[in-house]
Amino acid sequence: MLLPQVAGPIGVFDSGYGGLTILRELRALMPQYDYLYLGDNARAPYGTRSFDVVCRYTRQAVVTLFERGCHLVVLACNTASAKALRTIQQNDLPHLDPRRRVLGVIRPTAEVVGSLTRSRHVGILATTGTIISQSYDMEISKLHPDIVVIGQDCPMWVPLVENFEFDSPGADFFVKKRIDMLLQHDPAIDTIILGCTHYPLLLPKIRQFTPESVTIVSQGEYVAQSLRTYFINHPEMEARITGGGTLHCLTTESTDKFNSTAVHFLGHNIEAESIVLS
Ligand code: DGL
Repeated sequence: MLLPQVAGPIGVFDSGYGGLTILRELRALMPQYDYLYLGDNARAPYGTRSFDVVCRYTRQAVVTLFERGCHLVVLACNTASAKALRTIQQNDLPHLDPRRRVLGVIRPTAEVVGSLTRSRHVGILATTGTIISQSYDMEISKLHPDIVVIGQDCPMWVPLVENFEFDSPGADFFVKKRIDMLLQHDPAIDTIILGCTHYPLLLPKIRQFTPESVTIVSQGEYVAQSLRTYFINHPEMEARITGGGTLHCLTTESTDKFNSTAVHFLGHNIEAESIVLS
């Protein structure tokens, strides 16, 4: 495969709209770069899909972003980071282009949690796929072996966000139910990681149903700080990122639907381009 070698934008990928919460933080911290966002909205959610399917879909997205000039792609999706990141890094990058990079969102989040919890009991709220993969448990135990990690899946939360029901009264039931389940499982939890990039949209409701003493960790700012550090440590990659401050969005859904929803995540209008992934 012949990939463009000239500098290009930072690629940001998610199954749908959730990755826009990461993109927003990346642009807030590093507004100077160009960004290319890809939301596989037509095939979201990924959280209930099998390992093989998430790997295949994510690989298609990464290749598309590479073909469009990205040298670095952030999987702004915990499900894709949990199920596809390692396979792509180990099996695909050597063939596609060993100089390109794909980074995930789980490691930067696992790194910071050690300095946030005092009780050393941490809860993870995420999709079923991320919880079953135990990616957070493994990353956190590597970095902070004394921390007890309790995972709770929230299968209804992504559909609530994707269907724009995140601030509706109907969302209260599903949000409260899963937080209660997590805290009943381990009342010593003092820190909860939102391990899905869609969940920051539910943050006001999550906060409402979580005791004030519990810290809620939204990933975006930590992922952004981690990428900035990555560029400091890897100036050769930073040199391959274009610096125009632009954002272009790709979606596998209709552009009308994407544009009207994305504005609520980004805080400004966007004209997306519709593509087919295969
Ligand atoms: N936003 C994604 C995540 O962080 C994926 C949600 C989904 O498609 O199920 O896990």
